[in-house]
Amino acid sequence: MTIRFDGRVAIVTGAGSGLGRSHALALAERGAKVVVNDLGGSLNGQGQSSSAADAVVAEIKAMGGEAAANYDSVADAAGAERMVATAVDTFGRLDILINNAGILRDKSLAKMDPADFEAVTKVHLYGSAYCTRAALPAMQKNNFGRIVLTTSNSGLFGNFGQANYGAAKAAMVGLMNVVRIEAAKYGIKINTIAPMAATRMTENVMPADMLPLFKPEYVSAAVAYLCSEACEDSGQIISASAGYVARVQVMSSAGVFLDTNKPINADTIAQNWASITDMSGCQGFESAGAEMEYIVQQTMARLKKSA
Ligand code: NAI
Repeated sequence: MTIRFDGRVAIVTGAGSGLGRSHALALAERGAKVVVNDLGGSLNGQGQSSSAADAVVAEIKAMGGEAAANYDSVADAAGAERMVATAVDTFGRLDILINNAGILRDKSLAKMDPADFEAVTKVHLYGSAYCTRAALPAMQKNNFGRIVLTTSNSGLFGNFGQANYGAAKAAMVGLMNVVRIEAAKYGIKINTIAPMAATRMTENVMPADMLPLFKPEYVSAAVAYLCSEACEDSGQIISASAGYVARVQVMSSAGVFLDTNKPINADTIAQNWASITDMSGCQGFESAGAEMEYIVQQTMARLKKSA
């Protein structure tokens, strides 16, 4: 099987450097027309410049591909609309959106300036929501779409000094879970990548000898797959780095059904804590409704038994 994107039009946000650039090149290499979005600011989200996006557009054109630049901030709802208009006006349609743009403003929460919490949340969470919101109508029109969100192991698993970033990144999972359900009937699949790669974001964090192992291209391979027709899954979180590719899932323990004919209080929870948190027999749920169905079914079965 050779995955191709001929005739497909993609937007990659934050595609002027690092992972976004690599994603844009990976799609263009396989035939996609790409809108290269980048605000061109610093790692902490200050300043702006058109040069980052322009350079990647030039790279794609130099390899015989088609690309157009957009310099809007993803955190600007009107900018997100302009980004989609760039795709539709220039290339006639929109099939793929990779929400990748990101900034960092690390500090432990107790010492964090609220402005730094807001700035990071705006780019990652609002930015991904605004771009996805703007892209959906264009995708719905074609009954096809592939959307990728970018989370982080900081949000999924925790990391010191990144409360703003971790919270906004974990929010990608919630955004995905809801959009997956809302967009399913239009053939739109939405998945989330949890990358690790050597970029300006990590060059001072990763040990120097590890940097060559973490090529952005390895992450882009998984992202390109998630953007393809071959990918029929929706709602997956895929961790990808250094050749490691794995699925991450929010799981629920089998749980304990407490006797509702007896008092349920903090002491009951304490007595059952080990069973409540025992993850053997854990399961994931397809939706909030599926979890509720499980709880109702199990409860009804218990009631019937005790009747
Ligand atoms: P990077 O700093 O090289 O690239 C981010 C790009 O986003 C930059 O070109 C920047 O100009 C652009 N950008 C920032 N704010 C923007 C805005 N408001 N609108 C449009 N463009 C904007 O960083 P990297 O590493 O390539 O990160 C890409 C994504 O992957 C980010 O979402 C990041 O949080 C995420 N990530 C990266 C990891 C890594 O190991 N590099 C680990 C986990 C997540």
